[in-house]
Amino acid sequence: MTRTDTPPFAWDRVVSARGQRMNSSVIREMLKITQRPDVISFAGGLPAPELFPIEAVRQAASTVLDRYGPAALQYSTTEGHLPLREWLAARASITPQHVQIMTGSQQSLDLLGKMLINEGDVVLVEAPTYLGALQSFQPYGPQYVQVPTDDHGIDVDALETLLHTTRAKLLYAVPNFQNPTGRTLSLERRQQLVELTARHGIVLVEDDPYGALRFTGEALPSLYTLGLERAGHPDHNHVVYSSSFSKVLVPGLRDAWVQAARPLIHKLVQAKQGADLHTPTFNQMIVAELVEDVMPAQIERVRQAYGERAGQMVQSMQRHFPAGVQYTTPQGGMFLWVTLPEQIDTAPLLQQAVARGVAFVPGAPFFALGGGHNTMRLSYSSATPEQIERGIAALGETIRSALD
Ligand SMILES: Cc1ncc(COP(=O)(O)O)c(C=O)c1O
Repeated sequence: MTRTDTPPFAWDRVVSARGQRMNSSVIREMLKITQRPDVISFAGGLPAPELFPIEAVRQAASTVLDRYGPAALQYSTTEGHLPLREWLAARASITPQHVQIMTGSQQSLDLLGKMLINEGDVVLVEAPTYLGALQSFQPYGPQYVQVPTDDHGIDVDALETLLHTTRAKLLYAVPNFQNPTGRTLSLERRQQLVELTARHGIVLVEDDPYGALRFTGEALPSLYTLGLERAGHPDHNHVVYSSSFSKVLVPGLRDAWVQAARPLIHKLVQAKQGADLHTPTFNQMIVAELVEDVMPAQIERVRQAYGERAGQMVQSMQRHFPAGVQYTTPQGGMFLWVTLPEQIDTAPLLQQAVARGVAFVPGAPFFALGGGHNTMRLSYSSATPEQIERGIAALGETIRSALD
């Protein structure tokens, strides 16, 4: 029998200050209303499940068990599966000692926050930025300063002015096909950003889960590569690179990595020991099995599909959105960003859109310090071209009726 005469334990009182600073993802809450089967959702932003290489994963799992036996299911080193680290290091002209395997790049952001952010440290973020990074950093008590952005990403001139009066510890950026805007930082700005942050002694955290998913235009060097060229040695590079196999293979294996100078990797190893000892051995071995022979073709399939879907979304927006609505045209990745006339607030608009059978994510939560009430993020990655056309037509109607 349940006893009801004891007062409930006072959890509010015992949760740490750090815990109190955490909040649930606003997006996850919003997604609950968009998950009706009759709603076409551009809100979620999941990789397309029909493109997952299921058969290849099955075969790789079997090969790994045959090759490694019980070692595939045993505890392993915190740094990660050496063949995978070697493969990643060779691509970046660094050594495996500069590569730490992580359990999703979300863990990389958390552990980087843990190791780099003291309470009150100024953390520079793009306006808007990836919401998950804000969630990861938040418990460590950063003081956010927003850096203005435009169609070419971070406005480096505005950043330079800002740095006259602000002493920052870290700058977090998503230079390729940013989540949430789909924008890409231009080459010239990449060079300026690397130089500027190095001169000011600011750690530059480059989050790049989408870089391989370019469907138009030319690939640009990573901030990490530019930082390495400038520094001459991976241990002198002030850029920390974070990427993931989530968007180029499958997200469910939770395999990702960080490239950084060894003194920081050393601290990340300690943080990871406390967090989860290591990323699942079996998963890392499966990924290592897939990177050479399966991943290139997989990336090609995903690129092609997302390119088609993005193209369809832009065409549909041209057809159905009223004048005065602006949107980005991504060169890769999974998202684009819509800016409506000032008088529209996209948070209440979401309810009206859902009533017409379409969902998006309102833009405001992506701003660390507020703003963007008239913006929204749309994801085209897991909708068919036919759904995109119908969904964008419904969204166009919703916007028109809000403007009337
Ligand atoms: C910019 C960015 N960083 C990190 C992540 C986390 O990805 P994962 O933990 O699956 O590697 C995401 C996922 O959507 C993202 O968009």
